[in-house]
Amino acid sequence: MSAAATGRVAAIIPAAGSGVRLGADKPKAFLELDGISLLTRSALAMSVVVDVIVVAAPSDALDLASELLTVVDAEIHVVAGGAERQNSISNALQVLPEDISIVLVHDAARPLVPVEVTNRVVEKLRAGAKAVIPVLPIADTIKSVDAQETVVQTIDRNQLRRVQTPQGFDRSALVQAYANAKVLATDDAGLMEAMQIPVHTVAGDELAMKITTAHDLKIATALLGATND
Ligand code: C5P
Repeated sequence: MSAAATGRVAAIIPAAGSGVRLGADKPKAFLELDGISLLTRSALAMSVVVDVIVVAAPSDALDLASELLTVVDAEIHVVAGGAERQNSISNALQVLPEDISIVLVHDAARPLVPVEVTNRVVEKLRAGAKAVIPVLPIADTIKSVDAQETVVQTIDRNQLRRVQTPQGFDRSALVQAYANAKVLATDDAGLMEAMQIPVHTVAGDELAMKITTAHDLKIATALLGATND
């Protein structure tokens, strides 16, 4: 049986972003949704499925991050994040315990991810996939434009997907992808694609939405109310 079929699972949570696009007075991961920080919520969501959680936090807020994670039932490590998300994850990879065979990467900015999504990702990895991402279809029509914002063409949306997290990986493949990374990818699966490793998809969920703007925070608050009903 492969290591991925049996080994322990870790989640890396990049939480070192500034939240500039939210216009907040503190890092985005420390903002609260109904009294609980995005970081705490994301870590609690991961802790249902994983054994170990490594959080990359703003370098001047490591203690605060640790404090917010005391309620989370998992082995927790906190490291300083870097200038870009990719640097933050690279730092987190350095402290992964030896016996971890599967690594999930989950944005602190997606605090409402349902456990079913995480389970779907892990199940496919346990079955032998090296890279798995949750995706959703696209409802809007998508067009490409030129420098003058004039439409060039309509893209076939049936072939496109919106990509969420947690993204899951075979540990050694992810470590190699980060070692080989030559450009900044917008997600971790992009680094696997660069190595020609097949990236498999499972169904995502609207609740796994990413909080980027103040508008997103309002939507997440409404969704939280709906799920609490
Ligand atoms: O900024 P954005 O929403 O794309 O960030 C996605 C996730 O990556 C967030 O959870 C954010 O905290 C994290 N991040 C990070 N280090 C950075 C930038 C973003 O850990 N330098």
